[in-house]
Amino acid sequence: MKSLRTFFFVISILSLHGLCYGEAENGIAPMVKTEQEALYSAIQGFVGNWWNGSDLYPDPCGWTPIQGVSCDLFDGFWYVTDLNIGPLHDNSLRCRQKVEFRPEMFELNHLKSLSFFNCFTSLHHPVTIPTYSWEKLASSLQSLEFRSNPRLNGKIPTIFSLLKKLQSLVLMENGLTGQIPPSIGNLANLKRLVLSGNRFTGQIPYSFGNLTELLILDLSRNSLSGYLPSTIGGLISLLKLDLSSNLMVGSIPREIANLKNLTLLDLRNNSFSGGLKIPLEKMDSLEELALSSNPIGGDLGKIEWRDMHKLVFLDLSNMDLTGEVPESMAEGMKQLRYLDLSNNNLSGNLSPKLETMPCVSALFVSGNNLTGELKFSDKFYEKLGRRFAAWKNPNLCFPMNYRKQVEFRLG
Ligand SMILES: *[C@@H]1O[C@H](CO)[C@@H](O)[C@H](O)[C@H]1NC(C)=O
Ligand SMILES: *[C@@H]1O[C@H](CO)[C@@H](O)[C@H](O)[C@H]1NC(C)=O
Ligand SMILES: *[C@@H]1O[C@H](CO)[C@@H](O)[C@H](O)[C@H]1NC(C)=O
Ligand SMILES: *[C@@H]1O[C@H](CO)[C@@H](O)[C@H](O)[C@H]1NC(C)=O
Ligand SMILES: *[C@@H]1O[C@H](CO)[C@@H](O)[C@H](O)[C@H]1NC(C)=O
Ligand SMILES: *[C@@H]1O[C@H](CO)[C@@H](O)[C@H](O)[C@H]1NC(C)=O
Repeated sequence: MKSLRTFFFVISILSLHGLCYGEAENGIAPMVKTEQEALYSAIQGFVGNWWNGSDLYPDPCGWTPIQGVSCDLFDGFWYVTDLNIGPLHDNSLRCRQKVEFRPEMFELNHLKSLSFFNCFTSLHHPVTIPTYSWEKLASSLQSLEFRSNPRLNGKIPTIFSLLKKLQSLVLMENGLTGQIPPSIGNLANLKRLVLSGNRFTGQIPYSFGNLTELLILDLSRNSLSGYLPSTIGGLISLLKLDLSSNLMVGSIPREIANLKNLTLLDLRNNSFSGGLKIPLEKMDSLEELALSSNPIGGDLGKIEWRDMHKLVFLDLSNMDLTGEVPESMAEGMKQLRYLDLSNNNLSGNLSPKLETMPCVSALFVSGNNLTGELKFSDKFYEKLGRRFAAWKNPNLCFPMNYRKQVEFRLG
């Protein structure tokens, strides 16, 4: 409301004084002409020269809005605050084959949010992120996103470290390569850093430990290698940490247990080793824990599973774990729905107590060295159906009630 009132106030002032700013002389919109032309040119670079902004959208912040563009008033003039390129809606701005970043884009120095979705896709025209001019957006840009751009190649420009206001940096599902610049760790206001699904290599920078405001760190599905730095324990606000499907080695640093608010820890499909030595039970806000497909090793019974009250999803398959499946799992984990312990080297009996976990709806223990006889009730096998599996335990006996359940399912 307030901005609308200011808008009409400015219009009347301008007509009184006969000033000429953009289209303002017609009483249409007080938008600085250079801002308007920068917007038209920036968009043209992405969608093609056929797109004639001044023809199609003479008043882009007023009565002819452009899908994907938002504006706000500053000192009585419209400026562009959001620019979203890519097919999010039917009438969104769609990229042409030969996309180019025009320097005019960097003249839009009130931009808070800039995003590119499914824009850089042409096999014949791979594009790299410009390495210049980002400093012009440093005092405004809070969110920068490149998502699902398979032909966006090259490295993350180190100049991104000048974007001090950034709260969200999402570079997801692109073709980016090279090492992650350590200077990204200087972006002290970052709350979300998502670099998943690219081809990044090298180590996770030590400097990331300085991102104390970070809530989400997702570096999954890259080729990151080396150790996980112990500075990871500095990310005290973190809620979600996903490093799955990389090439990381060494032991998981104990400092990770400092992440008291973490709800998701996903380290699946790496080459972590060194045993289950982290005091997982201290991370009692964990809801999802996935460490599968790592040669971590160690005794499953050494963790105080009793204390992990909030755990809903636990995947510890394919980890070279030894020891027995502890009954304490059944005692504490009242929220647990999914438990995968398959393809380890677990031995001993499987306690029928596990069926007393009130929420459990999937239990996988195939590919171990369990012995004795399965002693769950008919009701349990019925409830889980195919979401119970205990195959490939050569010394495990399957009692009649289980076989009947399987025959019933197959027959
Ligand atoms: C857009 O169209 C106007 C006339 O409608 C023309 O004067 C102008 O040169 C065109 N601009 C571009 C960038 O093609
Ligand atoms: C973290 O920030 C401090 C200053 O706030 C700086 O001295 C230190 O070098 C930074 N650490 C890393 C690993 O970048
Ligand atoms: C952890 O979460 C609690 C409760 O949501 C919150 O009060 C606290 O500030 C958080 N800690 C950090 C370091 O963000
Ligand atoms: C495991 O990670 C590698 C790369 O690190 C990837 O190529 C592979 O597809 C991943 N496997 C699964 C099952 O996600
Ligand atoms: C499984 O564990 C036993 C000891 O419990 C050990 O003797 C055996 O070598 C292990 N097997 C494999 C395949 O790791
Ligand atoms: C399985 O356990 C039995 C003893 O219960 C042991 O003799 C055998 O070596 C174990 N097999 C493997 C593959 O670890």
